[in-house]
Amino acid sequence: MRNREKKVAGEAAAALVEEGMTLGLGTGSTVAFFLDALGERVRGGMNVRGVPTSEQTAAVCHARGIALLDIHSVDRLDLTIDGADEIDPRFRMIKGGGGALLREKIVAEISERVVIVVDSAKVVEWLGAFPVPVEVVRFGCQHVQRHLAGMGIAAKLRSNGDAPYTTDNGHYILDCAMGLLDEPEGLAARVKAMTGVVECGLFMNHCHTLIIGTETGAIVRTK
Ligand code: A5P
Repeated sequence: MRNREKKVAGEAAAALVEEGMTLGLGTGSTVAFFLDALGERVRGGMNVRGVPTSEQTAAVCHARGIALLDIHSVDRLDLTIDGADEIDPRFRMIKGGGGALLREKIVAEISERVVIVVDSAKVVEWLGAFPVPVEVVRFGCQHVQRHLAGMGIAAKLRSNGDAPYTTDNGHYILDCAMGLLDEPEGLAARVKAMTGVVECGLFMNHCHTLIIGTETGAIVRTK
C-alpha cells in the first residue's frame, strides 16, 4: 500500500515539471517513482536537466535518460522534487533516512520551489518518532556522540553491514533518537553548532508544496 501511495505522489510531482526546467532531484524510494514518470516524459521529447542529490539518484537518471547538471554550473534551480521521512503541519521535516541530507539541503536552498512527495504515513502532528539523521565528520565522531548524550540524545552510528555507513560526501551518520520535538528549530541550531557536525536532518523551512499519495489519489498542500 505504501508503495502505491509513493507512486501516486511521484507521478503527481512529475506532472509539475515543465519544458526547459532545471531540477533538483531528490533521493529515496518515493523520488524513484517520480524519476520513472519523468523518464517517460523525457523519452516523449521533454527537455529538462537536473542536479542529483546522491550517487544513487544519478545512477537512476542515467538509466532513465534524464540529463544531469553539475551543481557548480548553476546558481538557481527552478524546481526540486524530494522525499521526507516525516513532515509536520508547518512543513517542517526530518530527512536523511537515505543518507543524502547534506546534498538535499544544499539543492533545496538553491531552488525556487521545493515539492516534497510522501506516502500518508510520513505526515505527522509532531516530528521525532523517526530518529534524526546527523551527518558528522569521521574524525572524532564519538565527540559528537558524547555531546549529544549530554543533551539526553542517544546517537547511534549508522552501519552498513559490519562497517559504518559512509555518505556520498565521505562522512558518517548518527541516527539520533530525540523523542517528539517541542521546538525543532532550536534543536536544529544547537546540533548544527557542534564541532564535527556537517549537517542536521531537520529541515525547517525548505518545503513549499507537499504532495501526499493516498489510495484514492494525490493530496496537494501548499504553504
Ligand atoms: C534521503 O536522504 C531522504 O531524505 C529521503 O528523502 C527520505 O528518506 C525519504 O525516502 P523514501 O521516499 O524512500 O521514504
